[in-house]
Amino acid sequence: MLHLVRGSLVLFQGGNNQSNLAAVCIAHKNMMMLVVIMSLAVFACKGLVQALPFPAPNFNNCNNYEGCCPAPYNGTISEKLYVFDRKLPMRTRPPAHLLDDAYIAKYQRAYRLLKALPDSDPRSWKNQAQLHCAYCDAAFNFDVLTSSGRSSTMRFEVHYGWMFLPWHRFFLYFHERILAKLLGDDDTFALPFWNWDNQSPDLPLANVIPLAFANPMYDNKVQSSLYDERRNRCTKWPNLIDLQGALECANQTLELQTSLRQWNNRLMYTQLVTAAPISRLFFGESYKLGSAPGRGAGTLEVTPHGTVHVWTGDPNGTIPSSDMGILQYAGLDPIFYAHHGNIDRLWKVWKSLPGGNRKDLSQADYLNTQFLFYDENAALVKVQISQALNINNFRSGTHYSHEFQQLLDAPGLVANFFS
Ligand code: C2O
Repeated sequence: MLHLVRGSLVLFQGGNNQSNLAAVCIAHKNMMMLVVIMSLAVFACKGLVQALPFPAPNFNNCNNYEGCCPAPYNGTISEKLYVFDRKLPMRTRPPAHLLDDAYIAKYQRAYRLLKALPDSDPRSWKNQAQLHCAYCDAAFNFDVLTSSGRSSTMRFEVHYGWMFLPWHRFFLYFHERILAKLLGDDDTFALPFWNWDNQSPDLPLANVIPLAFANPMYDNKVQSSLYDERRNRCTKWPNLIDLQGALECANQTLELQTSLRQWNNRLMYTQLVTAAPISRLFFGESYKLGSAPGRGAGTLEVTPHGTVHVWTGDPNGTIPSSDMGILQYAGLDPIFYAHHGNIDRLWKVWKSLPGGNRKDLSQADYLNTQFLFYDENAALVKVQISQALNINNFRSGTHYSHEFQQLLDAPGLVANFFS
């Protein structure tokens, strides 16, 4: 079980495990022979890790020890990559704290419909969370041939490295398409995002649990489909978010809230601007077939992404930190998807910063890494990271109504940094 540990820079037991990297050639089960031969050849020449992109994991060969396996697939998975529908209307993801009543009603309905799908439907609410869990909790394994010629197995993990941003972009896209389908092919539906980096004291606040998620009841009549009771009582509205994850359950006096806004702003500025002047720092370490997972997260992933997770999850729950504070369960809180909308938006913001070096990664092993998802028609589809970098594919998700102006407008900050 992987916890998103509060305030720590190394969140994950296998972090920076270089020793596994010395173990060399790796083969996915389906490609065993070919890769072994190629790997041995390269190893003989260079004595280095054989690098290959990860092929899509096999959903029907899943290790279910944490109960995370996504719905199995009957049929053949097309070798072809998923074709994005470029005819969809362009959609803008709205900030969750500014939704009007009509939008909230639709948003509520979308999650009610999703939660009503039977578990046997691969698109179901349960399967959404399991899919996320499967991609992060040893559900998929790849065979490894070590330098001593022995074969061992390594688990596959989309967190703590360069897959983090593109994998979650795809996940949100298919999640959003499924919700739109359930709304009766409402192609105008776009997932709201939780704008927690916005520290403005103007109402309605963005840096709290947005009201649409905070109330257990919707309209004082029915249970809210956006509410999750497994949240930290210290995050109750209107407690401000603590992006550093340092305050625990402090009584938020007005004075403390003023400081908190400054600390949050400073943290965002560090993680997005000063600590990430080049792509490798922003996206995280490489992760290829042949390397151990968890080699190093990019600047957004641990703080603030991980700290927001932990801040939201219930530390006193029967399973401490569930739902949001544990990767295994995080997808069971509807706020997960709004949280990741903001992460995806910040990717776009980072790319738009001045300086010239803020570009998507371009290594072939990155671009050709593949994943499987269930689409809105419950078909299993294959995508690869190069598709995540082409914003025209999405028609949404890379278009957000709020950018990062507040921080960038702070006098002198950006000008000084880039001069
Ligand atoms: Cu896959 Cu926010 O984690």
